[in-house]
Amino acid sequence: MSSPAVSGVPNSPSCKIVLGMAASTGTKFIEAKDLHKTYRVGKIEVLALDGVSFVVEKGEFVSVVGPSGSGKSTLFYLLGGLTRANSGSVVLDGDDFSLLTDAQRTRMRRRKIGFVFQKFNLLPTLDARSNIAIAQEISGNGQDDTQHFTRICDLLGLTKRLHHRPSELSGGEQQRVALARALINKPAIVLADEPTGNLDSKNSDVVLGMLRQSNQELGQTVLMITHNPKAAKYGDRIIHMRDGRIVAAEEDPQWAVR
Ligand SMILES: Nc1ncnc2c1ncn2[C@@H]1O[C@H](COP(=O)(O)OP(=O)(O)O)[C@@H](O)[C@H]1O
Ligand SMILES: [Mg+2]
Repeated sequence: MSSPAVSGVPNSPSCKIVLGMAASTGTKFIEAKDLHKTYRVGKIEVLALDGVSFVVEKGEFVSVVGPSGSGKSTLFYLLGGLTRANSGSVVLDGDDFSLLTDAQRTRMRRRKIGFVFQKFNLLPTLDARSNIAIAQEISGNGQDDTQHFTRICDLLGLTKRLHHRPSELSGGEQQRVALARALINKPAIVLADEPTGNLDSKNSDVVLGMLRQSNQELGQTVLMITHNPKAAKYGDRIIHMRDGRIVAAEEDPQWAVR
């Protein structure tokens, strides 16, 4: 039996998707309230977000899609507390980012959020194992959960690649290491910005399947940004953006061209 949320989504060979668990719990977990963000380039102001509001419930897997320049990455940075809005607020698990000090925001990020970026962002001098383990060390979790470490690496097909540095790994392998690093601390929230943007379809399926699986098994809330309609369908719900605003699906030209 397949659940409606993932119908049509292929199971990757190394990432079996566990079906049938009701993930969403009806609890507000991420709340974006009327977010505005403007960048200043010299004397020119670029409006990146023009009043974005939405709620993600605990346990949901939400995809955000939209054309290039529509403000998706800016939204990602605001939701992750990596930059501040000009106005509006982000409330994450009851904590308003705008009311926290920089140190408190950093602590909250480390404790609650796993980040995945399009460009992997691995440390070049460390091997895959250390790139993953460093996330455990930074969070203060230590390396005590070896069972989880082994399982994540196994599911992502990394077990035999752990002693290789990023330069010795393919793009797909590097992103799988980056995903293992994001998931190793079992963060309540996984934020991913174009996680499959640099990957072939086989590696994309592994990464997306793993996001889906960790969402279903660990009840993690996942917010994934993508411009790929096939990838977006891994989500329970799709939010469409255009020109810094949330719009209906039919207003997103990418969505129509398929
Ligand atoms: N650091 C920046 N400085 C100036 N303008 C920026 C910066 N980052 C993004 N922008 C502009 O903000 C708008 C939204 O960009 P972005 O959030 O990266 O969109 P997306 O991820 O959907 O492509 C674009 O017009 C982009 O050029
Ligand atoms: Mg972007």
